[in-house]
Amino acid sequence: MIETPKKSSARPALLVALAAAFAVIAVLVVALVANVAEHKREAKVPTVRVVELTEETDDPALWGKNFPQEYDQYKKTAEMTPTRFGGSEAVPRVPTSDDPREKVSRSKIDADPRLKTMWAGYAFAADFRERRGHMYVLEDQLYTKRQQVVKQPGTCAQCHASTWVAYRKLGDGDLIKGFEKMNQMPYSEAKNLLKHPVACIDCHEPKTMALRVTKPGFLEGIKALKASQGVPNYDPNTMATRQEMRAFVCGQCHVEYYFKGPEKRLVYPWAKGLKIDDIMSYYDEIKFKDWTHKETGAQVLKAQHPEFETWNQGIHARSGVTCVDCHMPYMRVGGTKMADHHVRSPLLNVNRACQQCHKWSDAELKDRVETIQLRFKKLRDQAMDSLVALIGDLKAAKEAGKSDAELATARYLQRRAQFYLDFVEAENSAGFHAPDEQVRVLGESINYSRQGQIALRDPSFKPTVAVVDIPATPPAPAPGAPAVVPASAPAPAAH
Ligand code: HEC
Ligand code: HEC
Ligand code: HEC
Ligand code: HEC
Ligand code: HEC
Repeated sequence: MIETPKKSSARPALLVALAAAFAVIAVLVVALVANVAEHKREAKVPTVRVVELTEETDDPALWGKNFPQEYDQYKKTAEMTPTRFGGSEAVPRVPTSDDPREKVSRSKIDADPRLKTMWAGYAFAADFRERRGHMYVLEDQLYTKRQQVVKQPGTCAQCHASTWVAYRKLGDGDLIKGFEKMNQMPYSEAKNLLKHPVACIDCHEPKTMALRVTKPGFLEGIKALKASQGVPNYDPNTMATRQEMRAFVCGQCHVEYYFKGPEKRLVYPWAKGLKIDDIMSYYDEIKFKDWTHKETGAQVLKAQHPEFETWNQGIHARSGVTCVDCHMPYMRVGGTKMADHHVRSPLLNVNRACQQCHKWSDAELKDRVETIQLRFKKLRDQAMDSLVALIGDLKAAKEAGKSDAELATARYLQRRAQFYLDFVEAENSAGFHAPDEQVRVLGESINYSRQGQIALRDPSFKPTVAVVDIPATPPAPAPGAPAVVPASAPAPAAH
């Protein structure tokens, strides 16, 4: 028999349940109102502006009059603080007449001389330092020794200065025309048009403060990528979501790139996809090389800072977490919430950068990151040793008089091993942005180096990848191709 509950005890239970339900609804309503208010506050742009900002205002100090808090944080990117594997450490130097800097960041090639072997014959073997904050983008490019070893083109400027106003002036109002003109100037001339490091106007539309992409390299690169995925005429400024823009504004510069053709156009090699395998096959198809390795004669490539591509392969990108969530997390100043414009290592700011999503202690989160980075560094060291061993073997075989045909397979494997290793070496998170992918890439690199060594010992050895012939001199431009840069212009570009 089922006992019917007594009414007298059921009624209070019902009342309690109802009261609880109302309480929950009340809390939800309050939360909703608060949320709406917050969104309004976030969307609010001061109606009274101290300064009228236009498409010609590139000086961040003027923007700072309207947005003093963002400007104060932005200026802090001049601070230098090291973390275990990242951040930046100030090294004092005595200023000279051709380089007035009083402090620079640590030299990577002095810290690991194997890098000089890897890049023998290339400008990077002369000077390559750790990155530091956005306040330095312009001066570090002006004074790097890479400027003295090779005459660099104006193309370099896109990622190291505020270029929006300069490009448009140069192109009579046309961004792309100005970009093309500056690419073809020697850097020594282009630098006279540059006044500020990356500035507000490079990421913001001055009237509405909306995020925007202003760098032609990214506009063209993302268009090519989307076209390969079946989306024609992609324009991030009209088609991207807000969350996507929070990665795209950084992807304007934190990417792999090369200079295409005699006109030195800045191109992001994304027409086949963002993975290293796609990028490698893109370069092989166009038979591109950055330089000829001095010790082995291999036609090799230099990778640089593929943060955007790498982040794309990781769990955070997959979960919709962007660069800005970690590197410019929200902060509260008075009653308002703002994006922290002190862009830096999130490990200097775990509290706001990670704990908004992960409820682990500061120490535990740091430890998780460093565990990933330590494992990465260990394998990276092995990949570096393997590549140096292959370079040594190739050099010896060359000196012993082996023919180009006999060296071809090992040279191509050096090209691959080098690019795969460099792609994660030049990436600035020390393995964090996509841990398993970055370790996979190192595994591939080691495999290519060791296969190259086998190929030198056993002429019948068939490597796991098809050998691509990369000519020492690039194919002549097709008839009717754009005019070559003036004869006085820099010869081969080194980045
Ligand atoms: C989930 C958080 C997270 C996301 C998302 C993220 N990063 Fe990072 N990033 C890190 C961490 C952690 C490091 C390692 C910092 C260290 O070792 O001090 C790092 C390192 C870096 C560094 C080197 C910084 C330094 O001071 O050493 C750069 C540059 C960078 N990230 C750019 C980007 C860009 C660009 C994106 C988006 C395409 C991105 N990151 C997305 C967490 C993130
Ligand atoms: C105009 C190009 C450009 C854009 C846009 C850009 N960066 Fe950078 N970033 C650089 C350059 C160049 C450096 C290195 C400067 C140096 O070492 O002199 C750098 C350095 C950094 C560092 C290292 C800071 C340190 O103290 O070591 C971080 C982190 C970083 N950027 C993250 C970001 C994030 C996140 C975004 C997007 C919100 C972004 N960057 C947008 C060009 C850019
Ligand atoms: C490298 C790109 C970049 C640069 C340079 C930059 N910002 Fe931002 N800014 C952002 C991002 C990303 C956000 C967050 C926007 C969002 O989430 O919708 C933001 C947000 C803002 C906002 C909205 C309120 C807030 O703080 O979230 C203001 C105002 C602002 N920035 C002012 C400035 C000023 C002033 C400068 C120059 C001193 C500047 N920004 C430079 C990327 C940049
Ligand atoms: C906006 C939210 C958000 C932020 C900010 C964020 N994460 Fe995450 N993180 C996630 C999500 C979502 C995942 C995927 C796992 C999941 O779904 O639980 C994840 C995964 C991870 C993982 C596991 C990685 C793996 O390969 O499985 C680590 C470690 C991690 N985060 C560390 C950090 C650190 C360190 C920071 C700060 C620098 C950070 N996260 C910032 C949301 C975030
Ligand atoms: C597509 C954008 C982009 C272009 C083009 C570019 N850089 Fe950079 N550069 C960066 C970013 C991002 C960093 C910071 C990350 C790093 O150091 O890996 C950086 C860092 C640097 C640094 C400081 C660290 C170091 O390597 O010593 C120097 C110097 C530099 N670049 C010089 C140049 C020169 C010279 C050129 C032209 C040949 C050039 N850059 C072209 C984006 C770019």
